[in-house]
Amino acid sequence: MSVLVTNLGELTTNDPELGVVSDAAVVLDGDRVAWVGKAKGAPEADSRVDAEGRAGLPGWVDSHTHLVFAGDRTAEFGARMAGEPYTAGGIAVTVAATRAAGDDQLRAGLRKHVAEAVAQGTTCIETKTGYGLTVADEVRSARLAAEFADEVTYLGAHLVPPGADPDEYTDLAAGEMLDAVAPHVRWADVFCETGAFDEAQSRRVLKAAAARGLGLRVHGNQLGPGPGVRLAVELGAASVDHCTHLTGSDVDALAGSDTVATLLPACDLSTRQPLPDARRLLDAGATIALASNCNPGSSYTSSMAFCVATAVLQMRLSVPEAIRAATLGGAQALRRTDVGILCPGARADLHLLDAPSATHLAYRPGVPLTWAVWRSGSPARPPRG
Ligand code: NIG
Repeated sequence: MSVLVTNLGELTTNDPELGVVSDAAVVLDGDRVAWVGKAKGAPEADSRVDAEGRAGLPGWVDSHTHLVFAGDRTAEFGARMAGEPYTAGGIAVTVAATRAAGDDQLRAGLRKHVAEAVAQGTTCIETKTGYGLTVADEVRSARLAAEFADEVTYLGAHLVPPGADPDEYTDLAAGEMLDAVAPHVRWADVFCETGAFDEAQSRRVLKAAAARGLGLRVHGNQLGPGPGVRLAVELGAASVDHCTHLTGSDVDALAGSDTVATLLPACDLSTRQPLPDARRLLDAGATIALASNCNPGSSYTSSMAFCVATAVLQMRLSVPEAIRAATLGGAQALRRTDVGILCPGARADLHLLDAPSATHLAYRPGVPLTWAVWRSGSPARPPRG
């Protein structure tokens, strides 16, 4: 079945030839984009949606979330807003609740959070393990994540579980645990930070993962300067995420690499960290992505629109730069060419706003603008009446 979405006042495609098209139309056929261009030249399709001048863009590509979890950390957030610092140790609270939860409880949380994201325009979503931290709990997390997410990452090296010996746990995360989880995931990640894993431990896990054919990602430079960015670039990671505290040589290393700097502004706000210097990264020539980092500890939001608005209003990105980072940038961070772009052959992921221009994402911050969403060609959120 094909659908013609026409009378789009403005269509952001991220396609180098098409750019932003005014008076546009898109044809979705099955799970692919069949045609993009000026509405007056559009071919017929089985059905038709009149966007009445609204703006369209590729669905958000949220390349960093942690959605396999149980439990609640509202009190920790409240304490933080009263002045307590964020530390990696809070992860252990979610680990205990996640281990105690049944599969159906974890599935219900995944279903709810993915649906919440999709209803706001996210059409491609990555999520991670990392709240299990035993072989059985990490495998379970990976299998459940794969039921709901487009991309799944192994994050056994999220925290050394309380009471465990750091080097023995690193051996497990780089050995038996990795072997058990690897068949269920495409990516491996490490939280390379004071209080989590140091450079040598992070390197051990990442090299073991690469040797098993997994793509690499790194949590780095979140709470202070550190080796995460340098390590990610050295090992050819697809992405290094957070990048809140960067030195000049970190920026240069990113600019000279194809490792994407994935920025998580909702997390920085929620942990009262400074916002990352997106402007400096872009001006240096680095590729950036914006992602939600939806998780119960450091960033409990699934709103990519909030991240885009923050990037524009507080991180000195232009609206087109922020939208690109939250769509094509996320796709690049996941090394995918089929999402984050609207061109023939791309996945049929389309997001329509109840606004005449995507500029309204920053001009009207906090206003729920999503009007319709197609994910892989299916109407994930039908046009609002
Ligand atoms: O990306 N930094 C490490 N992991 C998550 C936080 C997880 C948590 O606090 O539960 C993050 O911010």
